[in-house]
Amino acid sequence: MAARGGFSNKFGFIMAAAGSAVGLGNIWKFPFEVVDGGGAAFVIIYLLCCFLLCFPVMIAEVAIGRKTNLNAVESFKKLGFPRWSFIGLMGIISGVLILSFYNVVAGWTIGFTFQMIQGNFEIGQQFGHFIADWKTIMIYSTVFMIATAYIVAQGVSGGIEKASKILMPTLLVIIIGLTLYSFTQEGAMNGVEYYLIPDFSKVTIQTIYGALGQAFFSLSLGMGALITYGSYVGKKDNLISSAVYITLADVSIATLAGLMMFAFLFSQNLPYDEGGAGLIYTVLPGAFASMGSTLGPILGTLFFLLLSFAALTSTVSLLEVPVAYLVDTFGLRRKRAVWLTAGGIYLLGIPSLLGNGAVPELTEFITYVGANKAASFMDFVEGIASNTMLPIGGFLICIFTTYVWNTKNLVEEVKNGNPEFANSWIASYVTFALKYLCPIILGVISIVTILDKFL
Ligand code: PHE
Repeated sequence: MAARGGFSNKFGFIMAAAGSAVGLGNIWKFPFEVVDGGGAAFVIIYLLCCFLLCFPVMIAEVAIGRKTNLNAVESFKKLGFPRWSFIGLMGIISGVLILSFYNVVAGWTIGFTFQMIQGNFEIGQQFGHFIADWKTIMIYSTVFMIATAYIVAQGVSGGIEKASKILMPTLLVIIIGLTLYSFTQEGAMNGVEYYLIPDFSKVTIQTIYGALGQAFFSLSLGMGALITYGSYVGKKDNLISSAVYITLADVSIATLAGLMMFAFLFSQNLPYDEGGAGLIYTVLPGAFASMGSTLGPILGTLFFLLLSFAALTSTVSLLEVPVAYLVDTFGLRRKRAVWLTAGGIYLLGIPSLLGNGAVPELTEFITYVGANKAASFMDFVEGIASNTMLPIGGFLICIFTTYVWNTKNLVEEVKNGNPEFANSWIASYVTFALKYLCPIILGVISIVTILDKFL
């Protein structure tokens, strides 16, 4: 088999995996999910899901990948359980679906970068119009998919790792700056209150379902992305501390982005519960406008540019999953696998692109989630792939790790690079969570929501 490449060191892995985790999920999706989930209670449930449920799943995924040095499908076979490789196949399908619509939102983001360069802050109010112009968005999305494919074609340490190392820290700095600035705006504290003071009386099963799906999406879990990235990690690297850094980076960027968004949102008196997927695109231009005609365009441009890059390090991981499969399993040359997959996924994304005003049937595709809310084709794919398939993928990974592979083997694998692990409380928690906590909670929520949707 051809050399697969790998991350050059632990830092490279952390940056690439944090690059995968931090993306549109944190900055675009998280705030409108918070609105859908009713505010602060959602935020708290989301945080609990990340630390208590997702963290153990992350350890399991990375350990499976590193143990086998293979992609999301082959790794199950190498461990000796070929029947379970369907988990990897399901993950590939989830990833393909996610990338198909994610690429469209990334297109909006590039478009906004150009609008900010021109200082066109009015664009916030014309968002609906902006995304309905499918021809322009299509150009941006095409550029974005080509950029993703180009990086993935460069291979693991050359492309994926290098891009993440520079872009991630810069994004964090600008978000911290914007958050501090947002606090100086009048009325910002109402937003902070909405975001931080929970009202648990409004929590429903839908809130929990949304928070759980968001946690999986944001941490790139449940679809084999971290099995694949784990397969490129060195045996001497400490998986636990890596996973802690990745989780903290992701969760802190999401929570900070939320804080900033709600401060800006309430200070501008915008109708916060109508925006849906357009929330950040309607709110942020107003915030940049308030900074004046010099600073506004500069920071606006920088922000959307960095958001595009954050999205890029995520799309790279989404594309890497099917590519690694084609390379390892079918012996395809990396470049060929990349362009084939990227092309296919791009085509699959066209209905999502057209469903934002251009084609009415796709724009009002379905009424779902038990809510009386019309949803576009994109909302529909997003609902299925991120909120349903990822937690189910996570559930299956827990079942596989504990009842098929055996947690003893997991612990053995994690001990490489972390010899004290076996006796640590983290090991006890991770095994407990993978065995009981995660499967029960993920299983119950998945079943209840599926029944709720289809019955
Ligand atoms: N975590 C990414 C984000 O928040 C999206 C993603 C999901 C990437 C699943 C890979 C796998 O933007």
